[in-house]
Amino acid sequence: MRNQNEKKVKHLIYSSNPVGFNDEVIKEILAVSGDNNTKNDITGALIYRQDLYLQFLEGPEDEVNKTYEKIMTDKRHNDLHKLSESIGSRRLFSTWAMRGDPVETWMWSYEEVKSGLLKNLSAQEASAAFEKLSRDVDQFN
Ligand SMILES: Cc1cc2nc3c(=O)[nH]c(=O)nc-3n(C[C@H](O)[C@H](O)[C@H](O)COP(=O)(O)O)c2cc1C
Repeated sequence: MRNQNEKKVKHLIYSSNPVGFNDEVIKEILAVSGDNNTKNDITGALIYRQDLYLQFLEGPEDEVNKTYEKIMTDKRHNDLHKLSESIGSRRLFSTWAMRGDPVETWMWSYEEVKSGLLKNLSAQEASAAFEKLSRDVDQFN
């Protein structure tokens, strides 16, 4: 039997612009994501603030693609930009169906987001942010 670690994992990162953002909305998104992603073997993290979503999805390629297709049509955000997509063998957030992370101080200022920095992140910069986040998560658990 192959174990989890030998399976191929697709990673996808996108940024978007929240529409109608508030605490209730983010709670609802994370609750539904938690249920669906558990069923679909997807894990990941969603960085959020009133001016940004930056999401990292990881899991079986077809499941990640299907979930991203659904997310793309969601009216609670717009201006989606796919920043990074790759196939690997390792997960960064293997115990999180979908972590919710408010923007932290080392991330992006309102001014930077307004000037378009987020949607112009390179694949490497976007991945590096989630790698740092996952290291911080490990450290504090
Ligand atoms: C920023 C954002 C992130 C989301 N992330 C996920 C996710 O990780 N998994 C998921 O199933 N749905 C996610 N959704 C919700 C989907 O767009 C969609 O509403 C949901 O999957 C529909 O679930 P249902 O088919 O069970 O009704 C997200 C929506 C937004 C706006």
